[in-house]
Amino acid sequence: MSNSSSPIVVALDFEKKQEALRLIEQLDPKLCRLKIGKEMFTHFGPDFVRQLVSKDFDVFLDLKFHDIPNTVAKACKAAADLGVWMINVHASGGEKMMTYARDAMQDFGADAPLLIAVTVLTSMSQDELNQLGVSGRLDEQVKRLASLAQQAGLDGVVCSAHEAKTLKADLGQAFQLVTPGIRLANAQQDDQTRIMTPHQALSNGSDYLVIGRPITQSSQPLQTLYEITDSIAELLNH
Ligand code: C5P
Repeated sequence: MSNSSSPIVVALDFEKKQEALRLIEQLDPKLCRLKIGKEMFTHFGPDFVRQLVSKDFDVFLDLKFHDIPNTVAKACKAAADLGVWMINVHASGGEKMMTYARDAMQDFGADAPLLIAVTVLTSMSQDELNQLGVSGRLDEQVKRLASLAQQAGLDGVVCSAHEAKTLKADLGQAFQLVTPGIRLANAQQDDQTRIMTPHQALSNGSDYLVIGRPITQSSQPLQTLYEITDSIAELLNH
């Protein structure tokens, strides 16, 4: 089901489809995968996803489903029908919701997408979490929801690269960690605050690096992709 062995997942956050397609023309499906989020999916829908899949890209459909178990299971099935490589749900939807999602993937056998969970959104502060009635520490809540996702049979979680080391130690090598907030050494941070370079994130235990603007806004995206690939080569050849 996978066309690439690269850990790099390029986040396509464009308002115009043509801009995204222009970028994709310059990328190589062997060197990276693509992430489509709520913005592009809402604008351009499943046909756009199919278009990327037909160009041999592994697609992470980042729609973060969170609803009653039956609805989430059906939404996950609809996403898997598009032929994508990875999908996700909110772990805070609970174990039953995640188990239903996992079960919905069984019919797809070896073609099933990776099913991962979002724990606590990294945009959320400790105060905001407490406001929701969660009284414990934010990092403990991340750990609790990641364990719950593993218990429900999911393949991994989205997390900050700063959490990756602890989560790998607690949940084991096979549990996949997908990390945004990646910036190249000496590059601009944009609105990301707790950033890591690709090399640091992989060394910390990340399995997949979600990288948007450093590639999408680059004047030479393929060149940037090669540079990132080179910077992590020593970590991939083992
Ligand atoms: O451009 P940049 O590399 O910051 O893009 C990161 C991508 O990862 C965006 O699509 C953003 O929505 C997503 N993301 C994130 N932080 C999270 C979860 C997702 O930056 N905690």
